[in-house]
Amino acid sequence: MDQSDEFISVKVEDAIGIVELNRPDVLNALNRHMVSEVVGAFERLDRDESVKVILLMGRGRAFAAGADIKEMAGANPVDFELLDPFAPWDRMTLIKKPIIGAVHGFALGGGFELALSCDLLFAAEDARFGFPEVNLGVMPGAGGTQRLTKLLGKTRAMEWLLSGETFSAEEALQWGIVNRTIPQSLLIEETKRFARKLAGKPPLSLRLIKESVHMAVDATISEGMKQERKNFYLLFASEDQKEGMKAFVEKRTAEFKGR
Ligand code: HXC
Repeated sequence: MDQSDEFISVKVEDAIGIVELNRPDVLNALNRHMVSEVVGAFERLDRDESVKVILLMGRGRAFAAGADIKEMAGANPVDFELLDPFAPWDRMTLIKKPIIGAVHGFALGGGFELALSCDLLFAAEDARFGFPEVNLGVMPGAGGTQRLTKLLGKTRAMEWLLSGETFSAEEALQWGIVNRTIPQSLLIEETKRFARKLAGKPPLSLRLIKESVHMAVDATISEGMKQERKNFYLLFASEDQKEGMKAFVEKRTAEFKGR
């Protein structure tokens, strides 16, 4: 889609915007430029009306084995302050369309944080997750301590974050980190099948449901309930709501337009 991308490849297929991490020689280690490219691609796909769902995956034998340790090794706090490397990560939270992550091989450190930034996660049975930062004398910085703890509670998150131990796709499923596990050879096919299912839904509903669910994670229940209600009202201003309900009454399949 954008020829200037160096570390990712992007294509649109059946209304699915597919972003593939493409540094397989280093297990898709995320350097700063690559993170900017991923977020830039998400933003372009978010604006593209032909795209309904975004799929993120990794080329080669891993999803992503973490932030690029070689790039980070010599950094000091002033470099970080000036480079503001987490600014693109913040922009990721503003993407309106559902993002599905398809994880195989390693999803470690920043790679796991990238996976946790997705709305849905499908994992190959061979996938391994974890935050090994502690073994490097650092810690997660792109939301790992927050997102894992919100998902799992303090007890489990503490154990995995402090020990740096990795865990399997099966454990990730048991703990509600991933939506499902899939044999590796079928991962992309099955994830695309699910993405196509979402792509047939009314886009405004997807958008406002995603926003409302994120409110449930980030805000108090009463703030989230207020936002949910406003989003519910807003959908009654859409043509898709009229079409969806009319089609139900007329016993036919609805044709959604995204407005
Ligand atoms: C840079 C990496 C890398 C990384 C792997 N590579 N992970 N390079 N940064 N995070 C490179 C290796 O140096 C090697 O390059 C090539 O990828 C293949 O890796 P191997 O180690 O040979 O593969 P293997 O023996 O299968 O081991 C796989 C592995 C191991 C267990 C995943 O690579 C590993 O432990 N990687 C580091 C994982 C990690 O600590 N992640 C957290 C990073 S800190 P060469 O040139 O030798 O072939 C972090 C902070 C996030 O993520 C902060 C917020 C963004």
